[in-house]
Amino acid sequence: MSSLLSEDENHALVNEVIRKLTLGPETMSKIVKIAHANYKKGLRKADNADACIKMLPTFVSGLPNGKEAGTFLALDLGGTNFRVLLIQIPANAGPNGKKECNIDSRIYRVPKNIMEGHARGLFDHIAECIHNFVNIMGYEEKANSGEPIPLGFTFSFPCRQDSLDSAVLLRWTKGFNCEGAEGQDVGQMLSEAMARRQDLQALKIVAICNDTVGTQMSCAFDNANCKIGLIMGTGSNACYTEKTKNIEMLDEEVRSATDNMVINTEWGNFGSDGALDFLVTEFDKEVDQNTHNKGRQIFEKLIAGMYLGEIVRLIMRRMFTNGLLFHNERVPKLFDSFSIDTSFLSMVEDCEEDDIVTIQNIIAMTLDVGALRNDCEIVHQVCKAVSTRSAKLCACAISALAFKIADIGIEDSVPGEQMKITCGVDGSVFRKHPSFATQLKQNTADLLRDSNMAVQYTLSHDGSGKGAALTVAVASRESM
Ligand code: BGC
Repeated sequence: MSSLLSEDENHALVNEVIRKLTLGPETMSKIVKIAHANYKKGLRKADNADACIKMLPTFVSGLPNGKEAGTFLALDLGGTNFRVLLIQIPANAGPNGKKECNIDSRIYRVPKNIMEGHARGLFDHIAECIHNFVNIMGYEEKANSGEPIPLGFTFSFPCRQDSLDSAVLLRWTKGFNCEGAEGQDVGQMLSEAMARRQDLQALKIVAICNDTVGTQMSCAFDNANCKIGLIMGTGSNACYTEKTKNIEMLDEEVRSATDNMVINTEWGNFGSDGALDFLVTEFDKEVDQNTHNKGRQIFEKLIAGMYLGEIVRLIMRRMFTNGLLFHNERVPKLFDSFSIDTSFLSMVEDCEEDDIVTIQNIIAMTLDVGALRNDCEIVHQVCKAVSTRSAKLCACAISALAFKIADIGIEDSVPGEQMKITCGVDGSVFRKHPSFATQLKQNTADLLRDSNMAVQYTLSHDGSGKGAALTVAVASRESM
């Protein structure tokens, strides 16, 4: 296909796309304000039903204090993989002054037919995997003995909880579409699946938590100042510690029983009321149209790993059909939904813009097409624009959370001194993308420059596994 546009028109189209993806300081401040207002709205009883950021109480009211110890089983379901873990938290710290947890785990795939099948099939599959793991670990007998084995379940989807060990799934996200689960208690569904078999009788679900909560818990184990848990991976979400008296959705009894509770914001659904329409592009709209959960999780679809490659694909496809990219070639992959993932952006952006040969190889490997210098430059610019927008939007939502935390006032903040908030973070985009983490940090610092706050990001190690075990450990500590 030869170019349908003149060179000037080509430049204009590329510039126009990049311009639409670029967020300036004023737009970012506006997003911070909208997010802050949305967090407050979600906490108000009168507004919660209409709020797109649901601000879900987690019933996690204590953070680790480093004294936790014991052996726990944990489950982690949040994407295409399911993990079972055995975690031993030692009673004493090692020579470096830190407690090193001993973690054994196994990953099991969740086949597509189960992800899109019936809930009963999913939970039977989970129970089967637990059984397999327990056998491998030599825990077979214990799993069926009289002595209860505490189980923590990291279930990384939006759930309404009214206790630590029950969680009603509000909606599937991230491509899951399992019938008969929405509106049901996942704790109960898992217990029933375990009861259907005779070999897991000793397992007792003590806590169900979101991966953000696990991440905050795991970070707080080493750093008591950790007030936020963030996931930037396949999906995106954050949680933070709120004053229980501000959570109007809770019963009076609960509100008066504890001082603090972690709130799972479920910020992925931000913008589903149209509040972000001023920045949503036609490419974002098309991404949304190609998902199971159309019209929902709009913010997540702008920033999370599951969608970044798809946004880039749609932009490249538009440029290709306009004759601007890959002239005279056939590129069927560009017409295949979700055929490009975030690793493509990571690889391309890991190259200098003028490292044409490496970019040509990456494009050849991923799209099976020969790219010219001009193609490589455009692809590099597009990837960079998409990942930068993601980092900026994430920084906006975190900064808004810092303002929300400032509304509460942190007990250990000293008047006149800068308030430092630690944010535990995990997820493939944060870990693996070459510049996402740096951009997130820089943009957060810029947004908070005129405030007296600073957010420090700390990589959290295995929040979903260790975090679930710590949630159980803290719950056992508090009930004693
Ligand atoms: C889910 C959240 C989860 C996030 C990160 C989102 O799709 O709604 O519950 O924390 O993904 O895994």
